[in-house]
Amino acid sequence: MPTEPSDHSPSAAQILTTPSRRTFIAVTSAVGGAVVVGGMLDGGSAAAAESDAEQPAPSSRVSLTINGKHRTVTVDNRTSLLDLLREDLELTGTKKGCNAGACGACTVLVDGRRVNSCLTLAVRLEGAEVTTIEGLARGERLHPLQQAFIDQDAFQCGYCTPGQIMSGVGCIQEGHTGSSGEIREWMSGNICRCGCYVKIVRAVEQTAGRK
Ligand code: FES
Ligand code: FES
Repeated sequence: MPTEPSDHSPSAAQILTTPSRRTFIAVTSAVGGAVVVGGMLDGGSAAAAESDAEQPAPSSRVSLTINGKHRTVTVDNRTSLLDLLREDLELTGTKKGCNAGACGACTVLVDGRRVNSCLTLAVRLEGAEVTTIEGLARGERLHPLQQAFIDQDAFQCGYCTPGQIMSGVGCIQEGHTGSSGEIREWMSGNICRCGCYVKIVRAVEQTAGRK
């Protein structure tokens, strides 16, 4: 499943020239705390480092469309799309599992493409169209894949289900439904701890018109 890798890690030069609390920790972790701590404090920069730590985190204004609704938000530049949805916009249908790109629980569509929202920086989404599980139904009418999950009894605890459905919608839109094996392959980034895979595949097949 396509993902958005984070590319905002500071370079070594940035770390060494503009120490902040976060980069200070990164440096001490990477090359050995005692040496670097000594070097920084010997330079008389302890007070400066403390002052730097009090600086507000860089933030940005972002305008995007979520489930057809235009939103303009100010976000800490480090905020993931997942946290923007859940913590700031109260769209808690999208689930946080691993928060590291490994489980697919956080899958949403960005401009029609499946992404792991835990790995997608909100600040990069200027002008984007985001669709979450809350945006699939039309009033009381469920999306056909939502209905298929019910018809096929394709969940137990339900925690992975929003991500499975969003990934299934993407899978169908991409045309990767030629066989159950193809569906399994293209849904393989979505983990179900309850082991409902057989029924999830059936639900995708039903919606794609193969059953
Ligand atoms: S929470 Fe995003 S992939 Fe697991
Ligand atoms: S239904 Fe429980 S994790 Fe998938």
